[in-house]
Amino acid sequence: MRRLAPPALCLLALLTAPALAESAGQSAAERLPACLACHGEGGTSANPGVPSLGAMPADYVVTQLYLFRERQRVADPMNAMAEGLSDDDLRTLGEAVAKLPAPKPEANPDPARMESARALAAKHQCGSCHGADLAGQDQIPRIGAQREDYLLATLRAYKSGARAGYDPAMNEVAQGLSEDDIAALSYYLAHR
Ligand code: HEC
Ligand code: HEC
Repeated sequence: MRRLAPPALCLLALLTAPALAESAGQSAAERLPACLACHGEGGTSANPGVPSLGAMPADYVVTQLYLFRERQRVADPMNAMAEGLSDDDLRTLGEAVAKLPAPKPEANPDPARMESARALAAKHQCGSCHGADLAGQDQIPRIGAQREDYLLATLRAYKSGARAGYDPAMNEVAQGLSEDDIAALSYYLAHR
């Protein structure tokens, strides 16, 4: 009878697996742990500048991964991460991250700041596309409870044109926002 590998060897194989992560031909399921090392295993990112992906609509994730792969959305390190992914990989990854739990809003919001930003969001009709609960749908992202630093950077990028969406809606919306509006809305969304 052939001997099974001793447990210590199995463990070693598991521990060295991430070192092979650069190798080509990995399935989407094999890639996911590397994604969540940055984006947060539980759907909530603890990394500055890295967005939370929990409960993002799958179609939105697929669209953004496509834009990264085709370099129509240019951002480190995502263009490299999306390189070589097949359309099926994009779909599998999109469905996997959409199933992660939604991030929780930041605690103890300042009531006055929330109230004035709520009026600003109503004026610009953010909820008409992103949903009254700001959870997004189809190709429109969840923006409630997203990281404040990421929201600030991304709204500025829409305004400057550094980030072009798959459609121009957000570039147009951001044209009407001042730097103060962007700061107020980012605070509001992170706490909602
Ligand atoms: C080294 C850290 C890192 C790794 C690994 C990583 N990402 Fe990212 N990801 C980022 C950063 C940073 C951004 C924000 C880019 C920007 O500035 O727009 C991002 C953005 C995204 C977005 C856009 C989210 C949004 O709200 O628009 C998606 C989707 C995404 N990543 C999915 C993935 C997937 C799937 C993988 C694995 C194949 C992955 N990421 C691996 C850091 C990472
Ligand atoms: C006409 C529809 C529409 C309206 C109104 C709208 N959005 Fe968007 N928003 C979108 C679409 C579509 C995208 C995704 C575009 C892309 O591919 O980058 C998006 C993306 C975003 C993102 C990027 C999220 C991420 O995870 O990267 C933020 C932040 C955002 N919107 C905030 C807002 C805010 C704040 C308002 C109100 C001031 C608003 N949106 C109003 C359609 C809209």
